[in-house]
Amino acid sequence: MPDRTPRRMHLAAFSSAGPVSGIHGGWRHPAADRNILSANHYARIARTLEEGCFDLMFLADILAVPDRLNGSMDSQLRHGALGALRLDPMLVLASVVGATRRLGLAATVSTTYYPPFHVARAFATLDHLSAGRAAWNIVTSFQQAEARNFGLEEHLSREERYDRADEFVEVCCKLWDSWSDDALVLDPAAPLFADPAKVRRIDHEGRYFKVRGPLNVPRPPQGRPVFVQAGASDRGRDFAARWAEVVFITPPSIEAATAARADLRARAEKFGRDPDSLKVLPGVCPVVAETRSIAMERRAMLAELSEAEAGLSTLAYHLDVDLSQFPQDEVLPEMDVSGVQGHYREVAEMTRRSGMPLRQLGKQYGSGRHEKGFTGTAADIVDTMEIWHDAGACDGFMFQVPYVPGGVEDIVRLIVPELQRRGRFRTAYEAETLRGHLGLARPPA
Ligand SMILES: Cc1cc2nc3c(=O)[nH]c(=O)nc-3n(C[C@H](O)[C@H](O)[C@H](O)COP(=O)(O)O)c2cc1C
Repeated sequence: MPDRTPRRMHLAAFSSAGPVSGIHGGWRHPAADRNILSANHYARIARTLEEGCFDLMFLADILAVPDRLNGSMDSQLRHGALGALRLDPMLVLASVVGATRRLGLAATVSTTYYPPFHVARAFATLDHLSAGRAAWNIVTSFQQAEARNFGLEEHLSREERYDRADEFVEVCCKLWDSWSDDALVLDPAAPLFADPAKVRRIDHEGRYFKVRGPLNVPRPPQGRPVFVQAGASDRGRDFAARWAEVVFITPPSIEAATAARADLRARAEKFGRDPDSLKVLPGVCPVVAETRSIAMERRAMLAELSEAEAGLSTLAYHLDVDLSQFPQDEVLPEMDVSGVQGHYREVAEMTRRSGMPLRQLGKQYGSGRHEKGFTGTAADIVDTMEIWHDAGACDGFMFQVPYVPGGVEDIVRLIVPELQRRGRFRTAYEAETLRGHLGLARPPA
């Protein structure tokens, strides 16, 4: 008998420790919680996600206030656009640990602007404090504005950033493995605190880093944090195929998602990995309600709250191109961008399909990623999710919430039960660690 049990999905919630989640005007929503500097704000989101049995809560990050539109930070700051304000995601997630018991906690940390010892230590700490729930979104950073905050006039080329990132992750893995799993003994009678024979220096000397080790934190409960990645260039995909266990993509269509996932899985095999150890999650911003018409009204209202300039300013920073130099009533010209390839492909495809001029593109970009089928009742949205999942376009979804906390609460109250009813999502956590939720093996030391 063929196994007719539906494949289950994985769910991640994309957020940022700042004003924006999925929709640029979301912070202006009458029911939005604007206490974005309070630990309670993030604890509340996390608890709601845990009630919905989400695999993980993800916090994006950048290391500068973007100034790519007209060389000015004004539009980002005035509109509270993506990046206007970002608390440190590691600290925010550390503050969420005590409010949750099972939810995975993913922080974005750059391999270009931090040293590996510091990053390995911080993630080992988060993984211990949370008893095995940490994940690292490995980014190489892509903005000139970030380079200028770290003493550089120009940021490194994409090749150089990824070469450095490869070595960076290798060093972190060596550091996490520098303590054997049983090195910490804590025997007061012997007395033996830690077994010196089981803690080793790493003596790493490479092209970019020289690190003696060992780490001063024992091997993390998960062996190492779950690796998340979102690079979409050729080099970025190879990096993901080598290291990542969760990949975020921003495909302009189901066809693009299917092709991206197949490509990532094939590349993972070339690196000697089981392709199923790589979970591909496309980003979507769902707006769900009890009826279709209420959902449409909500989507329209959220779009109304998002200023075109805010979306354009974020797009300029994502592409790392000053979009104010182009006529606003014409379409985005084809170009080679140094910024995020995934976002460029998404808007280039949208422009090609719709002929949308730049001004309108800004509005659209700021109004959240909403492919057809992600506005409506829970049944409508879950129908679409099933189509994507069954087509091999994804292993689940990364939901960019339209506003907080209402957008998260609606997803958990309406979409999650519908997925559960159809056997597509867990009804309770079955594992204790994030690796367990994702069905990933613990790497041996
Ligand atoms: C959905 C998504 C989320 C991302 N989040 C971040 C982020 O929070 N911080 C960051 O510096 N880069 C972020 N990036 C950028 C990528 O991780 C990557 O560093 C960048 O795309 C450059 O690589 P690429 O040229 O291979 O795309 C994100 C990209 C995507 C598609």
